[in-house]
Amino acid sequence: MVNNETVLKALSKVQEPELHKDLVTLNMIQNLEVNGDTVSFSIVLTTPACPLKNLIEKQARAAVQAIPGVRNIQIHMGSNVPSDGRDRGLLQFPIRNVIAVASGKGGVGKSTVSANLSIALANCGARVGLMDADIYGPNIPTMMGIHQIPAPRENKLIPAESFGVKIMSMGFLVKPGQPLIWRGPMLVSAIRQFISDVEWGELDYLIIDLPPGTGDVPLSLAQALPLSGVVIVTMPQSVSLEDASRGLEMFKTLNVPILGVIENMRGDIFGAGGGEDMAKIAQVPFLGAIPMESSVRVGGDSGKPVLVSNPDSEAARSLQVIAEKVAARISIIANDQNSPVINII
Ligand SMILES: Nc1ncnc2c1ncn2[C@@H]1O[C@H](COP(=O)(O)OP(=O)(O)OP(=O)(O)O)[C@@H](O)[C@H]1O
Ligand SMILES: [Mg+2]
Repeated sequence: MVNNETVLKALSKVQEPELHKDLVTLNMIQNLEVNGDTVSFSIVLTTPACPLKNLIEKQARAAVQAIPGVRNIQIHMGSNVPSDGRDRGLLQFPIRNVIAVASGKGGVGKSTVSANLSIALANCGARVGLMDADIYGPNIPTMMGIHQIPAPRENKLIPAESFGVKIMSMGFLVKPGQPLIWRGPMLVSAIRQFISDVEWGELDYLIIDLPPGTGDVPLSLAQALPLSGVVIVTMPQSVSLEDASRGLEMFKTLNVPILGVIENMRGDIFGAGGGEDMAKIAQVPFLGAIPMESSVRVGGDSGKPVLVSNPDSEAARSLQVIAEKVAARISIIANDQNSPVINII
């Protein structure tokens, strides 16, 4: 006799590979119905992860198939990204997680990573915002092929949208070539104000492209924003690594969870392996390496990031895997904190 109990018992043998708990314990099985020899249910994942989705569906199907008397199985796959539980009153919208992309040094690929990471998460079905907080060199509009934002509504800035990602940049407010004369605390409060003035709507992830360095501005921003975690971008060679390590230590001091280290521009010119070593020494996860490829630069310059313009390239594939690892890290943090899967406003 097939019933809800036998199905749940079978599904409690299927593990979520990142969280190392079974689907039933994690409350991922929903809308379970048994009708004679037909079983239907939804699996609600905590990340929008594309490849994992197929694996989990396959394993769940096999587990239920093994119950005597089951002939038809209908599985609906969905996701509900949990919030890390931080109070995001500042942002005024149900934004579940805020992820900063940082480095100690300029020119290592923060903006490139931010843009592609956002697109990768959006491609998997997540609701994603991308905030360019780099007031010195706001490159996100160019990289995402956006030149203006819609007219503001009721005192709120409306983000532009590109490749399924909601985009806001200080670059939209500052005319090209116009020097920025704000400094220090004034600048930070201007950016805070700016970020909170945006009509983000509901988001699973808000990615923040931070200004380079470990100076006043990135530091105060990291303190002022309710960050779920930070991703550190570095290049393989030692000079960049020293700077990135300084950045990493700064975030550790501020108690911002380090989601991991990304090594960018791996290859003949800058070498390989430094990011991995750095992650090991700092005892934080290594999220992956992105090769040095001209398609990455061309993609950024032409407003079509490599994930869109050249999705089969090695760089695009490594960026996709890195995005999935970031999503997995976020779901682990949320799970550890046992925060409820509801919106925090
Ligand atoms: N993997 C890569 N292969 C080839 N070129 C790359 C790669 N990653 C980034 N680039 C190129 O390197 C340059 C610097 O990258 P990017 O602007 O993303 O760095 P950044 O850290 O944001 O810089 P800044 O500190 O100035 O904001 C860009 O021209 C970009 O297209
Ligand atoms: Mg940049």
